[in-house]
This record gives sequence, C-alpha cells and structure tokens, in this order.
Amino acid sequence: MLLLLFLAVSSLGSCSAGSPVPVPENDLVGIVGGHNAPQGKWPWQVSLRIYNYHWASWVHICGGSLIHPQWVLTAAHCIFQKDTDPSTYRIHAGDVYLYGGRGLLNVSRIIVHPNYVAAHLGFDLALLRLATRVGAASNVQPVTLPPEALNFTPEDECWLTGWGRTSYYKSLPPPYRLQQVSVQVLENAVCDQQYRNASGHTGDRQLILDDMLCAGSEGRDSCYGDSGGPLVCRVRRSWRLVGVVSWGYGCALRDFPGVYARVQTYVPWILQQVGELP
Ligand SMILES: *[C@@H]1O[C@H](CO)[C@@H](O)[C@H](O)[C@H]1NC(C)=O
Ligand SMILES: *[C@@H]1O[C@H](CO)[C@@H](O)[C@H](O)[C@H]1NC(C)=O
Repeated sequence: MLLLLFLAVSSLGSCSAGSPVPVPENDLVGIVGGHNAPQGKWPWQVSLRIYNYHWASWVHICGGSLIHPQWVLTAAHCIFQKDTDPSTYRIHAGDVYLYGGRGLLNVSRIIVHPNYVAAHLGFDLALLRLATRVGAASNVQPVTLPPEALNFTPEDECWLTGWGRTSYYKSLPPPYRLQQVSVQVLENAVCDQQYRNASGHTGDRQLILDDMLCAGSEGRDSCYGDSGGPLVCRVRRSWRLVGVVSWGYGCALRDFPGVYARVQTYVPWILQQVGELP
C-alpha cells in the first residue's frame, strides 16, 4: 500500500492540489504551530532558490542548513535531478525575512546521496557547495553535526525552523518571516507504530526506517516549503543538527509526526564529502 506522501517542497504562491486530509481547525500561526523567529537565533538556516520565469525572480523551494562556511545540507528531494546543474540554484542566508534584499549565493557543486530514490525510502540528503565561503557574522554561522553516539529523546529541547506552510492549506504570508516551533522527538518504534495504526498499513515492511527520525505532534510540525531545513536539539548548551525535514502524511496531524533524515546516521558520509569540518 502507498501512503499519501507530502514532500515539503514549495514554491511560494503556487497552490498544492487539494486533498481530503483532515486538518485541525485551530487557527495556528507558524511553520505549523510556530511563531516568529528572532533575528540571528538560527544563523545556519538558509533558503534554497530556483529561478521562476513567471515571477522573474529566485523563489524559495526548500530550507537548508549551513554545516560549514562553504557547505549547505538539505534534502535530496529538493534537488530535481541527481546531475542537476548547480547554476540552477541559489542560496539565501543571514536573514529571517525570506526576501530581505540580501545578495544570493551561488552554488558550485551538488552532491545528492547516491542511494537516494524517494524520500520515504531514506537517504534523503544532499550537499551543496557554495561558490564562495560565507564570512563569519552573527547572523550567518554553521551548525554543529551531532555526535555519532548520542540518542535524542523526548526530554531533549528540539526546535524546527522554516518558511514553509503554516497549515496544509495556507502559505506563510508576507513579510515571510522565519518561523520556529519546539517539537518532541519520538522513538522510531513508536512513530512506526503510529503510522501503521493510523494508515491501516498491515505489511511487515518498516515505514520509519533506521535512517529516519520522527518529531512533532498534533499542531506542531513541518509542512510544504520546510523540506531540507533543520531540526536542531540542544546538547550541553550547543545546538546540534539532528534532522533534515523529509516527509510526512499531511501536516501536523494527530497520528502522523513529521519524518526527518537522521543526520547522525550520515555524519561519516558528510565528512567524507566535505572533508573535516572546523
Ligand atoms: C553567480 O553566478 C552568476 C551566473 O554565473 C554570475 O553572473 C554572478 O556574478 C555570480 N554571483 C556571485 C556573487 O558570484
Ligand atoms: C496501535 O494500535 C494498537 C491496537 O489498537 C494499540 O494498542 C497501540 O497503543 C497503538 N499504538 C500507537 C503507537 O498508537
């Protein structure tokens, strides 16, 4: 059986096909359930852009995170083809306002995880190399990758940020300010069972694979346009990039937490591509 997936890519102003997925009625503001992010609080958050001829501008399609002055980590499903020309993309960094007037950064190289096929099959990660290093500034800073041997639990303080939809049916309104929401990480086994129960899936196949991580709850979640963006958790006073927004069923529904690429699993692969991180 096939789950109705959403891939959280968006193009501002575009309309997603309607779908009969029930959405909680409360009028939440935010990522879903979030509120305005303070300037400089999440300095690794970037926006991935492609050129839109109709709008004659570089429009937001996905989030991403600086993990190095010259590298951005995003989701593989944000990149349309494995061998895409890097000049098709731009990166916007250093502003909570999506179209804040800052210059766009060029991309010189794209590395999609070689095993990626579709988000719900895992490996949903891609690395973008910037043409030039970003200078250190208080509002532009890389985020640290998680240590390989650390478990994240519902007790950890974790936050999700992005410019994606504020509900299944609603785009983030102008002035497109970055949204933040705190979310709880779930154990994979619990999340897998929730997805099975709520979707009526009966096969043996795991839905939430080991390289995925679930977070969020009813009314608190990522949605279209947040894909590729960061889920960070605080470990001993420093933020670690724990997840990359990947997929889900609807947005912020009761039994369907958001599903993230589990960054921890891919630290060796990332380091291999990027070289040592500072
Ligand atoms: C980015 O690439 C475009 C097209 O190659 C070029 O015209 C532009 O000057 C570059 N921008 C920067 C900041 O290097
Ligand atoms: C899944 O459904 C079973 C049987 O109805 C129930 O016992 C279990 O608590 C549910 N698990 C989750 C995680 O929702």
